[in-house]
Amino acid sequence: MVAPVRPAAAVRARSVADVQATLRWATAHGVPITPRGGGTGKAGGCVPCEGGVVLSLAGLDRLRSIRPEHGFAEVDAGLITGTFRDAADEARLYYPPDPGALDACTLGGNVATNAGGPAALKYGVTRDQVLGVEAVLADGTRIDLGRRQPKGVAGYDLARLLVGSEGTLAVVTGIRLALRARPASIVAALMPFATVQDAAQAVTLGRRSGLEPRALEFFDATALRRAAREPGFPFDPSWGALLLVEFDGEPGVPEASLARFAEGLGDRGPLEVRVAGDEARRRGLWQLRRRTSHLVKVGAVGWITEDVAVPLGSVPDLVERLPGIGEQHGVIALAYGHAGDGNLHVNLLWEDPSGAQFAERAADAVIAAALDLGGTISAEHGIGLAKRRFLPQEVGDRAIGLMRGIKQAFDPLGILNPQKVFRLQEPPC
Ligand code: LAC
Ligand code: ZN
Repeated sequence: MVAPVRPAAAVRARSVADVQATLRWATAHGVPITPRGGGTGKAGGCVPCEGGVVLSLAGLDRLRSIRPEHGFAEVDAGLITGTFRDAADEARLYYPPDPGALDACTLGGNVATNAGGPAALKYGVTRDQVLGVEAVLADGTRIDLGRRQPKGVAGYDLARLLVGSEGTLAVVTGIRLALRARPASIVAALMPFATVQDAAQAVTLGRRSGLEPRALEFFDATALRRAAREPGFPFDPSWGALLLVEFDGEPGVPEASLARFAEGLGDRGPLEVRVAGDEARRRGLWQLRRRTSHLVKVGAVGWITEDVAVPLGSVPDLVERLPGIGEQHGVIALAYGHAGDGNLHVNLLWEDPSGAQFAERAADAVIAAALDLGGTISAEHGIGLAKRRFLPQEVGDRAIGLMRGIKQAFDPLGILNPQKVFRLQEPPC
């Protein structure tokens, strides 16, 4: 958990000109600026750890235009992701990224962390949808980066470099996002498995089957037991793990794909296949899935949430290592998440204040396991402050040196979200 910090002041931008004026002033006075969208990030990226000014983009929330003829939309950075998806849907178009905080997070925040979500499995993460960005540089200059068509190799891809840069290089004020055709039909099913290993194997086998699920979500038994204290959350004590599997396509295709997926798993297949019979039930399942992050923590006095990902074939290995890590360090270790992307949200919880002292070592062990399996320390939540200490282990000092050089080129005074992702200088906050 990242401790809260009070900034000296907050600016609520209502226009790009407001952002420019704020940054011109900050450059003139050397004041740190922490950009903020919905404030729902998991890694402390919008915590103003050096004080200074929080620059909220939440008031910059217009849908500028939807251009079906070009296959893109242009939005303000503060537009809520769920609002944008609904607007695309009304235009019979589809914007795939659907992070857990869909109704509270902003598209600018999604760009900052390169957010993903369940449908990233088939359609990619935020970066895969970004054609271009409008951004304000540290000195207040407005710049348009990127393209208006699928192709373009005009120099370095600066637009996509800003995706995932967590507000450390520039303040993104507008985004051009590719839109797709809306899937004709979507079918979801719950598939409980007798053992956690059967479910983890199903994730890797299911993806090798040639079928293309649009979501392949995993819950281990500990996550299920805790979340199922919420009425309506699917659970049976005989389940070792649960998958939430979804296919889309022309009518009839998703149902057939679900059946082939389950049959292809043979003896180690699901205990049953519970198809969500209608759209209301499917939406209900996803509402519960979106609340999982909160539900599993109820009753805990503290927690660390990791967001590791490993190569797909190593998901069973990662899942197997987690209970041992929990036992060794005296914390509750559970996992749920986008296993079809190799991405598990590993939560380390403690229900007694004494657990806090062991949790960091447990987190170290989870990170070590992910890296040992060839994975990453942060699949979709970013680095911010919370994961900063792990970054050198994954990318190495040489890469961090290159990142520092890029930071210097964009933000020579180091005023944009300083100390996030990597330390600018010692002592860090
Ligand atoms: C989720 C968030 C935590 O998938 O990424 O629930
Ligand atoms: Zn997630």
